[in-house]
Amino acid sequence: MSCDDVNESGCTQPCRRRFLVSTSSAVVALTLPIVGCGEHDVDTLGNDVELLLADYPELEEVGVTAFVDFDEVALPLAITRTDGDEFIVTGTECNHSGCGVSRSGGGFKCPCHGATFRLDGSLRKGPATEGLIAYDYEVVDGTMKIFAS
Ligand code: FES
Repeated sequence: MSCDDVNESGCTQPCRRRFLVSTSSAVVALTLPIVGCGEHDVDTLGNDVELLLADYPELEEVGVTAFVDFDEVALPLAITRTDGDEFIVTGTECNHSGCGVSRSGGGFKCPCHGATFRLDGSLRKGPATEGLIAYDYEVVDGTMKIFAS
């Protein structure tokens, strides 16, 4: 397996980096630790955000997901109407290596190594080790407020 290949667990094997540091009398080799797989820190919404539901007509349909960008989080949030004014709001960043998920079947799928998630963000199949971040929200007069986690 060469540097940056994906192993049988779906984990990318990062390159081992060596830095040689010369001093006047010796050469010291430093080896950086290999980053673990499946330990990605997911970026979470740092502040409450709002959106006008009328700006996302796809959200009028039950089961359709809108992927909405906010400056407060690295990847879009996934918003899906489930019934009436009931929605599911999740992050889209996979905790395995940080890729963004997309809709697939009745939930989400990570394009990088194949992790799958239910529509509520819960983990269905790894190699991710946790579900997507789920956010609380409220809808008042057509405005959705999503609460920071
Ligand atoms: S980043 Fe590896 S499964 Fe999502």
